[in-house]
Amino acid sequence: TVYPDKQTASVKVAERIARLIQRKQEAGEQAVLGLATGATPVGVYEELVRLHQEEGLSFQNVVTFNLDEYYPMLPDAPQSYVTFMNENLFDHIDIKRENIHIPDGTLAPEEVAAFCLNYERQIEEVGGLDLQILGIGRTGHVGFNEPGSAPNSGTRLVTLDDLTRRDASRDFGGKENVPTKAITMGIGTIFKAREIVLMAWSGKKAPIIKKAVEGEVSGEVPATYLQLADNVEFVLDADAASEL
Ligand code: GLP
Repeated sequence: TVYPDKQTASVKVAERIARLIQRKQEAGEQAVLGLATGATPVGVYEELVRLHQEEGLSFQNVVTFNLDEYYPMLPDAPQSYVTFMNENLFDHIDIKRENIHIPDGTLAPEEVAAFCLNYERQIEEVGGLDLQILGIGRTGHVGFNEPGSAPNSGTRLVTLDDLTRRDASRDFGGKENVPTKAITMGIGTIFKAREIVLMAWSGKKAPIIKKAVEGEVSGEVPATYLQLADNVEFVLDADAASEL
């Protein structure tokens, strides 16, 4: 779906999330959301905060699982995805803290594998992800599933691509300060979500969106795996869609 601009698109995605939350509330159930970081979803979170503050949307029945976190990373570091989520969403809504899940960047190396298995188990225990939102990196990564990721991959420790670290260098004051690793949900984890929405804005994303949507399905561009699922919507602004 192509919208003229990212504001319009972000409001539409936020409304879809709000409808899901309300539908689940009426059924007395929890809504399980897979959340993303980066600049792309900021407008969606802004609109969700507005719906909470001005229109009474409650997040009491919402459980969240974030896609990824740098490794190693302290939760209160300015670049952590914990800080990002608190500042952009969680500090401004009524979500229960115990319902928030973000991969732990403070684990000892020998603890990572068990943590990742448990992350998958926690998602399953609440009935799986109802809706996963995604951005896309210029390498074609979703979450931090870089080129070479397998379609059935689960939550795991990965090595970041050089381009990804370059793109993150502004947040860290230089590429050399960007962690070389991250913990990310896998392509397989994302695929199990009942609905998937991938968002992209601006001409900077146009070449990778063309590859993701029209290119050959391949681990070289992990987002192309999404062509194999029928529960995926790409939500784009006109500039990101300009090469399609
Ligand atoms: C990071 C995140 C991804 C995100 C990507 C794009 O690498 N781990 O989940 O999709 O950046 O970032 P942005 O939305 O800032 O373009």
